[in-house]
Amino acid sequence: MIRVQVPATAANLGPGFDCLGMALELYNTVEFSTISRGISIEAEGEGAGELPRDGSNLVYRAARLVFERAGYRPEGLRIRLSNCVPVGRGLGSSASAVIGGIVAANIMSGAKLSHREILSLACSMEGHPDNIAPAFLGGLVIYTAIDGEITWQKIDLPKDLKAVVAVPDFALNTRESRESLPHMITMRDAVFNISRVALLVTALQKGDLSVLGTAMEDRLHQPYRGGTIAGFKKVISAARLAGARGVALSGAGPSIIALADKNFKLVADVMKETFRESGINARTMILTPSPVGARALKIL
Ligand code: HSE
Repeated sequence: MIRVQVPATAANLGPGFDCLGMALELYNTVEFSTISRGISIEAEGEGAGELPRDGSNLVYRAARLVFERAGYRPEGLRIRLSNCVPVGRGLGSSASAVIGGIVAANIMSGAKLSHREILSLACSMEGHPDNIAPAFLGGLVIYTAIDGEITWQKIDLPKDLKAVVAVPDFALNTRESRESLPHMITMRDAVFNISRVALLVTALQKGDLSVLGTAMEDRLHQPYRGGTIAGFKKVISAARLAGARGVALSGAGPSIIALADKNFKLVADVMKETFRESGINARTMILTPSPVGARALKIL
């Protein structure tokens, strides 16, 4: 039996649209074992009721790609999923399924894929590297892929940093929400974002959280997506007032992530209450950034 644990991720991370993502200590677990024939898929936890249990299951589809590449044909496969990452909330649940399937299948078929091949394959399935890369590598990952050529850097995050995440009780479809984004941006907005990405990465690397208020701002996607989430701007302001250093949409939303080094409970309570005042029920989580990405917990 092979058991792989994959962290949740906060993609985009402020100004880093499609290129920056952070792994969080909240995990989905994928277990693979061989059976005499067919596929059997069991799921528990977040979204378990809605997950397909047939060949269209994302973990299974990811695994099949690996088996095909490795020329490996298991007689039958049992997949057990134990999910803690909320589905469709901007916390990387599909990236974790893709990475979990690929990593478990790679181990099962003789570990023939390199890290680079795993990342490339996962990105070709998921489309957006900013969830895939931290789910696989952990930490904060800066990632770019041009014409299939991938390049990344991973940095570790300050020890006292936590992510306070408010998770509304509704899902957003990333593909649909990308359709609301502009095809062209102004030079001013491009400069706004690239300056903040540089600030954010440097500040996190140095452990200087004082600039995160500015460094987490964005003009590429949040102004468009934020408008579809009731209370979005108010939650951001309230979290900042309660002591969060920087606040942004997590992934494509609707979750909001506040980076903080103190007042975690207060920030969480204020975010939940401000969402409630806007008519949205949200739960909150206080999460530590995960320095490690996907890892095998058990191989028998
Ligand atoms: N960068 C992607 C987007 C992340 O914002 O659409 C999706 O989770």
